[in-house]
Amino acid sequence: MTKISDNLLLPCGVEIKNRFLKSAMTEGLANSDAIANERHNTLYNRWAKGGVGISVTGNVQVDHRYIERAGNVVIEGKQSNESLAALADWSKAGTQNNTHLWMQLSHAGRQTPFSINKESRAPSVQPLPTLGGVLKFGVPKELSKSEILNIIDQFVNAAEVAKQTGFTGVQLHSAHGYLLSEFLSPNVNQRTDEWGGSIENRSRLLITTIEAIRDKVGRNFPISIKLNSSDFQKGGFSHEESIEVAKILNNTSLDLLEISGGTYENFTALEIDSLNLKKAKTIKPQRSTKVREAYFLKYAEAIKEVISIPLAVTGGFRSTEGMNNALQSGACDVIGLGRPLCSEPNIVNELISGEKRSATLYENMLEFGPWILGLNSPISLMRSNNKAAQVYWCYRQILKIADGNEVDTKLGLFKAFLDHFRDDSANSKKYKAFWKDLD
Ligand SMILES: Cc1cc2nc3c(=O)[nH]c(=O)nc-3n(C[C@H](O)[C@H](O)[C@H](O)COP(=O)(O)O)c2cc1C
Repeated sequence: MTKISDNLLLPCGVEIKNRFLKSAMTEGLANSDAIANERHNTLYNRWAKGGVGISVTGNVQVDHRYIERAGNVVIEGKQSNESLAALADWSKAGTQNNTHLWMQLSHAGRQTPFSINKESRAPSVQPLPTLGGVLKFGVPKELSKSEILNIIDQFVNAAEVAKQTGFTGVQLHSAHGYLLSEFLSPNVNQRTDEWGGSIENRSRLLITTIEAIRDKVGRNFPISIKLNSSDFQKGGFSHEESIEVAKILNNTSLDLLEISGGTYENFTALEIDSLNLKKAKTIKPQRSTKVREAYFLKYAEAIKEVISIPLAVTGGFRSTEGMNNALQSGACDVIGLGRPLCSEPNIVNELISGEKRSATLYENMLEFGPWILGLNSPISLMRSNNKAAQVYWCYRQILKIADGNEVDTKLGLFKAFLDHFRDDSANSKKYKAFWKDLD
């Protein structure tokens, strides 16, 4: 009977000490130069000491023009000695305590914020609306074939740098509506060439990138991807297509498939209903009839049936009972955790030792009062914004840990929200001033 404390052997031959994966969480810690720094070391050292088997970094970008937010680390082209040394320090700090530290690699595609770049790149010209009244994005331009080939090279280069600087694996971010998942989506990818159309064509960028990375990093280096179980949007990447992609992935040398779901328009990854508020366009994920805390488990089970690659599921896991049940039922092999590690960085040690039987459910405790948004706000909007604001609450806790402080669980949601937007706006301006080629 598999349990959370059991080790796991990956197809590449690497052994992971337990069944916990710290899921990627954007840190926002880099200065405008987009180079890692001491704060990354402090943060990842704390998480390594906290007991996770695999720690996946927040998304590291492969192109400074198309990032997820200011504060991302960027690995693009040949790295300076300063950047290489910083990455080596980061990997050293994050691999303590026999922890694996995998770098998540990403290209933000059409989800590049407007405050960073007024023009983004995407498979086709399908702009994103402004979301939640505050999130505005660059206008997408269709990628040319040579630009697509260049993006593969950018991912390969970043993976090689990750390996060279001591990271023990990489993960491609192919979920949540960033570029690799945009290619998978029939809504966003309307190309008629070999990169669009059938699911084989739409998954070509992802599959080619995995294989190109494998060629360079060798057989023993873990490669993972994060994939949506569905975009949960009408006309988007569906659950049936996700199963088809899983079958295709089975023929690659992938070591771990992490399952999530949703995009910015429908932030299912965090069980946020919809930021777009056009509910007609979105589909709510179905939970299993059995009471289960992890909300993608039902989808993961169907994927597990068609693959032999180890499977991680992320989203909602909180109790040892829920986690062990999922492992024992064979629904997944690895438990992904995000938000709990922002408020309780030591939670994995505590769950494994039995000191705690569940992470604290801060996401159910943090609420704006209705007075904050105005009494006329529709209840659904308030709920949606409340949950979205919890992400900013997590961002602020990440900053605290990175500065060597204790987390502040009494931090108000509204203050976290305001402080984040103040800092993000200032950081975006500084980033644009530093990188002179952004619009
Ligand atoms: C603060 C924060 C930052 C995140 N950043 C990323 C990211 O950079 N890459 C990614 O794949 N997912 C990101 N996510 C999603 C998480 O990896 C995870 O899928 C999600 O939080 C659901 O897991 P949980 O219920 O354990 O929190 C982020 C989530 C949070 C809360």
